Amino acid sequence: MAEKTITADERRDALVEKIFADSIAFMEILGVYLGDKLGLYAAMSDGAWMSAPELASRAKVNERYAREWLEFQAVSGVLDAECDSVEDDSVEDDSAEPFGRRYRIPEGHDEVLLDRDSLAYVTPLAKQMVGLARPLPALIEAMKSGGGVSFPEYGEDIREGIEFGNRAMFVNLMGEWISAVPDLHERLSSSHSPARVADIGCGSGWSSISIAKAYPNARVDGLDLDGDSIEAARRNAASEGLEDRLSFQLRDASAPELSGTYDFAIAIECIHDMSRPVEALRAMRSLVGESGTVVVVDERVGDEFVAPGEDVDRLYYGFSVLHCLPVGMSEKPSAETGTVMRTDTLGGYAREAGFSEVEVLPVENDMWRFYRLR
Ligand SMILES: C[S@@+](CC[C@H](N)C(=O)[O-])C[C@H]1O[C@@H](n2cnc3c(N)ncnc32)[C@H](O)[C@@H]1O
Repeated sequence: MAEKTITADERRDALVEKIFADSIAFMEILGVYLGDKLGLYAAMSDGAWMSAPELASRAKVNERYAREWLEFQAVSGVLDAECDSVEDDSVEDDSAEPFGRRYRIPEGHDEVLLDRDSLAYVTPLAKQMVGLARPLPALIEAMKSGGGVSFPEYGEDIREGIEFGNRAMFVNLMGEWISAVPDLHERLSSSHSPARVADIGCGSGWSSISIAKAYPNARVDGLDLDGDSIEAARRNAASEGLEDRLSFQLRDASAPELSGTYDFAIAIECIHDMSRPVEALRAMRSLVGESGTVVVVDERVGDEFVAPGEDVDRLYYGFSVLHCLPVGMSEKPSAETGTVMRTDTLGGYAREAGFSEVEVLPVENDMWRFYRLR
C-alpha cells in the first residue's frame, strides 16, 4: 500500500498541537518547582487531606496562592483533590467553598516528589529546568558572539538540580556499577593496600561519598572547578561522617599541574562540559599511571545524528543548547563539545590523550554510558 503523504496543513496542525501541549508541560514543571522550592510537597508529606488554609499555615505561604497552586496541581494530575468527579454531589458545595476543598499527595507520587533516596525521585529535573532558564539573556548574547555562559552563572537551582537528580543513582547503584569491572572491584576492596580514587568533576560529592561507602577501605579525592559545588561536597561528606576518607578540592581537571598517584580515576557526566576534555583525560591517565583504571561515565546518546530523534537525544540536545555547550565555551580555547558527546567523539579525545582503547562497559543504564579507557 502506498504511504499516505502528510500535507502541509496536517504538519502545521501537528506543530500547533505540539507547541500548545509543550506550553502546558512547561508550566506544569514550574508548578512542580514551586511545590519543591516552597516546601509545599514537604508540608503534605504525611499523605493526609489538606485544605489551602492548612497548607498555607504549615508551609508559611499566602492562602490565596496556596489555593491556586493546589487547584493547578490537582488539575494537572500531580495531587488528588478530595472531590474530583463531576458526578459527585459535593462538587458544587466544594466549588462554592474553594478554600474548604482538600487535597493530598497520592500514594506513589510521594516517592517521586519527596523521597530523595528513590530512583523515582525526578523532581530535581524541575529545578534543573528553572536553572537552565536563569541566564537566558547571557545565552542569547553568547549565541551571537560565540562566547559562553559559566557554570556559576546558572546558580543554585542547576547545581542542586544536578546534585539531587544524580544522587539517588549514586547511592543505589555505585557498588553495582563498579562490580561490572571485576579487577577494579577487587582493587578497591583491598584492605592491605587501601586504594586511592580521584573523582574528577565531582560536583556536590555524592559519587565520591557512594564510592567511599561501597568500599570502606578506599580513600577518595574529589575535585571540581565550581566553588559552591566543592563547599556542598564538603558539607555532604561531613553529614555522612566520612571526612576522614574523603577530601574535596577546587581544581581544574584539565590543569597540567594536576598531580597525585591513584588506582582509579572516574569522571561522571562532566567530560562533555569541559573546555579542554583532552587535557582532562590526559591528566586522568597520568594520575593512575600504567596499572590504574580510568572510567568515564557520560550521556547515552545515539551513535549518530537522527532527526526526529529518540527521547534521550531530545533531552540531551536541550541540555546542550541551554547549558553544557555554553558552559564548555565559557573558557577559550574550547573543544566546543556539548552534551551530545557520541562514543566516536570520546574515542577521538581519548586517543589524543594517549589512550589506545575505549571499551563500553556492560552497565545497564538508560541515561548514561560507561567507558573504560585503556
Ligand atoms: C553535570 S555536572 C556533574 C557533577 C557530578 N559529576 C555528578 O555527576 O553529579 C558537571 C561538573 O563538571 C564540573 N567541571 C566542568 N569543567 C571542569 C573542569 N575543567 N575541572 C573540574 N570540574 C569541571 C562542573 O563544575 C560540574 O560540577
